[in-house]
Amino acid sequence: GKDGYRHYMEKELHEHPVVIGQTLQRLIDPATRRVMMPDLPFDLASLPRAVVTACGSAFYAGLVGRYWLEAVAGLPVDIDVASELRYRDPPLTAGGLGLLISQSGETADTLAALRGMRARGQHILSVLNVEQSTMARESDVVLGTVAGPEISVASTKAFTAQLSVLACLTIAIGRARGTLSEAREQELVTELLDLPSRANEVFDQGQAIREMAAVVAQARDVLYLGRGSSFPVAMEGALKLKEVSYIHAEAYAAGEMKHGPISLIDNTVPIVATLPSGRLFEKTLSNLQEARARGGRLLVFTDTKGAPRLRDLAEIVVALPTVSEFTAPVLQTIPVQMLAYEVALLKGTDVDQPRNLAKSVTVE
Ligand code: F6R
Repeated sequence: GKDGYRHYMEKELHEHPVVIGQTLQRLIDPATRRVMMPDLPFDLASLPRAVVTACGSAFYAGLVGRYWLEAVAGLPVDIDVASELRYRDPPLTAGGLGLLISQSGETADTLAALRGMRARGQHILSVLNVEQSTMARESDVVLGTVAGPEISVASTKAFTAQLSVLACLTIAIGRARGTLSEAREQELVTELLDLPSRANEVFDQGQAIREMAAVVAQARDVLYLGRGSSFPVAMEGALKLKEVSYIHAEAYAAGEMKHGPISLIDNTVPIVATLPSGRLFEKTLSNLQEARARGGRLLVFTDTKGAPRLRDLAEIVVALPTVSEFTAPVLQTIPVQMLAYEVALLKGTDVDQPRNLAKSVTVE
């Protein structure tokens, strides 16, 4: 049942902290604080590259994974949505990694992409929530997201569980490839293990998120902005808003705004920005100043460290706990999903069963 929550989506949003914790517990040895992988039928050290594919939210998790795999593990990554990848003819070196991500393990396009990669000699590693699924049976290795059943059609908790797995996989590959010292591994593991508590604190921001929702619910179009690993978080926010509130939303890499979408900006198109402190903070901040100068209404998710810089600029600032750049996208996902939920409530849509959508897309 819904355990007293109004919708499964609300219940599942509140499961983020537990799900992150459970997923990490499977992959991190608490005694040594080191990532442990199951026995693999291939060697992580000798992978020439990875091809990552998935659909929808799972694809956005994969995009965050790309930032990690490239920057932390030094692994070359190609990534595409499964419905495109399956019809592309990318030249693949045998012995590469085919990395699939799916909550259900039954998505037709992702399954077809898996089969295509297997036929081209890729090692198949799937990050799956349903461990008894078609994709599980056809994979060399399954890394489980320990999210429990996800009932709401719009995916929520599966996403942070997927990120938890991808973070651990990145650490394991980085160690195998020698790009990650033991000391650095311990730092990253510590940052990951800190996430469930920090995630719990996100719910303290409910009131500010509801204020944002009141602005967004009046809009016809909403622009989501982010840079680096926050860009896929913006994409996830925009998708979730479209799905459950039926409001048009588009995510842009903040630096691309001036190459087109800036012409959309006026006071009727709210801008939802995801902007944690760190390397890309100043760059994104100047993009937001450009938007503000054109009358844009800024609704910003940042952290306690970034918040003071935004108070005069943005209409509403949600300050999450400050965490590392590595783990920030995991934490920042929770409030963008919460925002979509709150807007859907205001719009009175069928939150758990949005029109035209199915939980598992088993047709092409
Ligand atoms: C978004 C959503 C969909 C799924 C996509 C992939 O809220 O639910 O975009 O993420 O259909 O589904 P799985 O992960 O089952 O392959």
